[in-house]
Amino acid sequence: MTTRHFLTLLDLSPSELNALIARATEMKAQLRGAGHERPFVGKVLGMIFEKSSTRTRVSFEAGMSQLGGHAMFLSPRDTQLGRGEPIEDSARVLSSMVDIIMIRTYAHQKVQAFAQHSSVPVINALTDDYHPCQLLADVQTYVENRGSIQGKTVTWVGDGNNMCHSYINAARQFDFELRIACPEGFDPNSELVAANKDRVSLFRSPIEATKGSDLVVTDVWASMGQEDEQLEREKQFAGFQVNAELMSHAHSDALYMHCLPAHRGEEISAELMDSPDTVIWQEAENRLHAQKALMELLLNS
Ligand code: CP
Ligand code: NVA
Repeated sequence: MTTRHFLTLLDLSPSELNALIARATEMKAQLRGAGHERPFVGKVLGMIFEKSSTRTRVSFEAGMSQLGGHAMFLSPRDTQLGRGEPIEDSARVLSSMVDIIMIRTYAHQKVQAFAQHSSVPVINALTDDYHPCQLLADVQTYVENRGSIQGKTVTWVGDGNNMCHSYINAARQFDFELRIACPEGFDPNSELVAANKDRVSLFRSPIEATKGSDLVVTDVWASMGQEDEQLEREKQFAGFQVNAELMSHAHSDALYMHCLPAHRGEEISAELMDSPDTVIWQEAENRLHAQKALMELLLNS
């Protein structure tokens, strides 16, 4: 049997993804009710973080222990990964000792190389190119509040980055229309856009992209690893803030989301972040439930 990985949303079929979202919501109810049966007793998750994290680390670690397993935090600072041990060797060794591995790193190719040499499932917990786990939580949050996302219109406002790329894959897998508004010079990967041109379109005007939208999503202007571009990006992204005025162009029941961490007053207004009816905190919490459903699927494959 081949080992299944989750490096992008394309690694699961649309029906598997939809079942996973439903299972995540079921597990959320279980946790709030009688609790879980702890099917992962004796299972170990290795968590490699080469970039910072709050939500991803805590959700994977808490999720694994709620299901009876154990999670191990591995940072390059105190493992041989930080001293140049080849990724292929690390993959062979780590996967001989743990049952499932998640990696947050820079180059997407590094996660691909790791997965190629791993004998256990590997989960992409964010690379420079993709953040598929976040999309599981985002879609779960949409479905919980508004029902199926199939056939809806989603607008991405901001950088054509890892989150935007995962939204493009989500448009394909969950069957929705995606409108992307980016400043010139910050477009998503052109090959990915071209491969999905039947459902993905690019705009320069956030207002045009938001008209009639069911969900508006944004992310920081400077991602991890781009900190020294912060000031320049603040200039380039002026006018690309998701705020009440922009949301007035969307459907009256449109939701807005942000993967967090957010910069209030930059890519999203403080008013929207602090609104009592925002789903952003539910979106963050759903990382826990969606990744538990993901680990269950991969460990049972
Ligand atoms: N959204 C997200 O991945 O958050 P962290 O960087 O805190 O893990
Ligand atoms: N685009 C952001 C997402 C953080 C969860 C980054 O890569 O830093």
